Amino acid sequence: MDRNADAPWSKFDPETYVDNNYRTPLDVDVLIVRLMRDHFGRCFSGGIPDSVRGVDVGAGANLYPALSMLPWCHKVLLLEYAPPNVAYLERQLAPGGYDAAWDAFWEVLAEAPAYAAVEPRERFGEIVRVERANLFDLDGRRRWDIGTMFFVADSMSEYPEEFEAGVRNFMSSLNDGAPFAAAFMKESVGYRVGEHRFPAFRVNEARVRESLEPLAGELEIHDLHHMVRPGHEGMLLALGRRDTGIAAP
Ligand SMILES: C[S@@+](CC[C@H](N)C(=O)[O-])C[C@H]1O[C@@H](n2cnc3c(N)ncnc32)[C@H](O)[C@@H]1O
Repeated sequence: MDRNADAPWSKFDPETYVDNNYRTPLDVDVLIVRLMRDHFGRCFSGGIPDSVRGVDVGAGANLYPALSMLPWCHKVLLLEYAPPNVAYLERQLAPGGYDAAWDAFWEVLAEAPAYAAVEPRERFGEIVRVERANLFDLDGRRRWDIGTMFFVADSMSEYPEEFEAGVRNFMSSLNDGAPFAAAFMKESVGYRVGEHRFPAFRVNEARVRESLEPLAGELEIHDLHHMVRPGHEGMLLALGRRDTGIAAP
């Protein structure tokens, strides 16, 4: 069994990962982007507070969670552990703007007026920043107002306690009421990126619900029956708001 610390994160190849997963947009990602876009739109339908700060935890080589936060945020932080992925994300912030591969996802977001009003490359360059960080070090002291975590807690270790800690630390990094979106590979047995194998913890809808329910309000879990490779049984998208359980005064 592989713990998070055992996996070859320093050898993660972001370009191969993008080729495998995002270079040609898959129907399931388009569906996820629509569901997340509409969820965030509903959460901010009453207005956007000042200075909303967003976080994408374990951002890796995927920009669509960050793009989905652009209209609502004053700042977005991409937290990532693997050095090659940190370098990939930093390249996306270079003056030429992010890679054209991400335009297809923005087009789906921009079907909604709040997104259509944003010039994404300019806004991305202005408000997004990258930081190397370990999810296990998020202890609730740093908090954000909206957050995403895509294919991380389930796709970084084979140990149940590390999956639980990943979900708990992500949710603890959100302020009360913060909208969130989190995605999980269903029943994943691990994955390869190029020559290297990365661990996963097998989750189903019940397991994801059990881990999120004590920490979330308005929770909805979408069980998406799309297979993107052998070795998993679909994807799960959880949408909701952070609920700290502390009633407003
Ligand atoms: C399957 S990839 C998902 C990447 C991206 N979020 C996506 O949607 O495609 C798992 C990600 O978790 C990151 N990761 C692994 N261990 C981590 C840790 N301890 N803290 C933060 N990120 C971690 C990996 O570097 C990788 O980017």
